[in-house]
Amino acid sequence: MALPNNDIGDETRQVLAAQAHIWNHIFNYINSMSLKCAIQLEIPDIIHSHGRPMNLSDLAEALPINNNHDKAKTHDCVYRLMRILVHAGFFIQEAEEGYLLTPTSRLLLKDEPMSMIPFLNFQLDPNLMDPWHSLSKWFNNVSDDSNTTPYATAHGMPFFKYAENEPRLNHLFNEAMASDTRLVMTVLIQNGKGLIFEGLKSLVDVGGGTGTIAKAIADTFPQINCTVFELPHVIEGLKGSKNLSFVGGDMFNSIPSANAILLKV
Ligand SMILES: C[S@@+](CC[C@H](N)C(=O)[O-])C[C@H]1O[C@@H](n2cnc3c(N)ncnc32)[C@H](O)[C@@H]1O
Repeated sequence: MALPNNDIGDETRQVLAAQAHIWNHIFNYINSMSLKCAIQLEIPDIIHSHGRPMNLSDLAEALPINNNHDKAKTHDCVYRLMRILVHAGFFIQEAEEGYLLTPTSRLLLKDEPMSMIPFLNFQLDPNLMDPWHSLSKWFNNVSDDSNTTPYATAHGMPFFKYAENEPRLNHLFNEAMASDTRLVMTVLIQNGKGLIFEGLKSLVDVGGGTGTIAKAIADTFPQINCTVFELPHVIEGLKGSKNLSFVGGDMFNSIPSANAILLKV
């Protein structure tokens, strides 16, 4: 309930506004964690498959959770989760009919070619979130040495070293990068900006991940010989094609020569 303006002084109003401001920042994580939960519960796909606005009860029943749950309580909690996600712009709620996707949640469908789910799964993995708890500790250690990052402070080694020995994380990371690249390349090629590659005979994509971008360029421009230059464990087992090859190595030592070098982060 809002306090009538004339009941409180400016100072009190300022304190309450400051408290609300701080609360907003303290609880910001609720937005990203709710989004992660929605993806784990496949909510965008469930609403999409429904084919028309989906009411709360149908949605709660369709969630991939065990059947022994307290239904009334679950509906209540799904309602609260959906309120956050509607407020954040991921779904539209039409009063009687139910929930609908927005253009944003369409990018969170599993089969959408530009799906951002892999990127979300990686960025919101506890392994990637832990370093944020070490940020102030890292400030005691800041230096030019790229081995002293918040990630290394939390996990005892740089990210790429850790991922080399952790297939789950390596996979999560490579999928995240590939999904981001699929989106960027789709937009780039669809909008004719692919013209920037015309006239090239060779190109090396340094730190090119599993080759999503180089494959798209190689397919669109058959006259360009594309090379993906990457850490060996990232491209292990990957096969090239007529105008696409994978070369393992460390970019800080040397990189293959080509007409153009691509570096996409
Ligand atoms: C931010 S990712 C970008 C991946 C890809 N270019 C994309 O946009 O999807 C950086 C990439 O650089 C690679 N990388 C890191 N250190 C490297 C090194 N010393 N030599 C070669 N590649 C390296 C990583 O394995 C990773 O795939």
